[in-house]
Amino acid sequence: MRIVLGEKNALNWLDFWNGNHSIYVSETHRLRHHERIGEDIVKRLLPETGIVIDYGCGEALSAQLLARHCGRLILSDGAPSVRDKLSDLHQGAPNISVLAPDEVLDLDEGSVDCIIINSVLQYLAPEDTQALLQDLTPLLADHGRIIIGDIIPPDHTMLADAGALLHFAWQEQFMTDAMIGLMRTFLSDYRKIRATYGLTCYSAHEMETMGANLGLKTQRTALNIGHDQGRMTFEMQKSAA
Ligand SMILES: C[S@@+](CC[C@H](N)C(=O)[O-])C[C@H]1O[C@@H](n2cnc3c(N)ncnc32)[C@H](O)[C@@H]1O
Repeated sequence: MRIVLGEKNALNWLDFWNGNHSIYVSETHRLRHHERIGEDIVKRLLPETGIVIDYGCGEALSAQLLARHCGRLILSDGAPSVRDKLSDLHQGAPNISVLAPDEVLDLDEGSVDCIIINSVLQYLAPEDTQALLQDLTPLLADHGRIIIGDIIPPDHTMLADAGALLHFAWQEQFMTDAMIGLMRTFLSDYRKIRATYGLTCYSAHEMETMGANLGLKTQRTALNIGHDQGRMTFEMQKSAA
């Protein structure tokens, strides 16, 4: 799948990510979000994983944490503005590189140990997700995994998202900001784009079928990556040749 900004459904989402947006209710929320997903991902990389791609990585504030638990960390995002910031930030880091999605597809087949795709597939049309996973699968080494997090099940509502955010805010002590932020989100571009284009949802069965069709052993993990346990994470693993 080649990515072009400003075309059809999912790509309007990509324009959103490429622009000047904020999906966080406060700086505390932004920092805790990244800490939480960083910690959750690291648990899945232990004891250490070789080459890891964080695909659709966004700001990736936990990149340095992840990089301490793998041989090489490749950050990749479809939004050029996101990649530019990441390249500036990590230019001196010995084992972190930033690649455009097309450059990821040029990596050697069989060379990648783990591909993390967290909170991304809801912004893609199903046929684009299928094309993406078909393109990424050949990159996997034997026993390599694609870890797909934050999948929204079909019965998950915006209200459930709001509830999960409030629960997280309660735990992390940014409750007032969360309530103000929820009102702001209601008036934001995010909500308007979400109302217009929607988010792509998958049942656990659909995800398992998708993995099986790629020849990958697929299972839902007990916990989702991140704070929203109403959403789901799946690990898709390649068997040895
Ligand atoms: C909700 S953010 C998730 C960021 C990060 N993975 C996290 O969990 O915080 C979605 C990210 O996916 C990127 N993205 C969306 N569609 C993409 C695509 N087709 N290819 C690569 N990146 C994409 C966006 O630019 C955005 O940075």
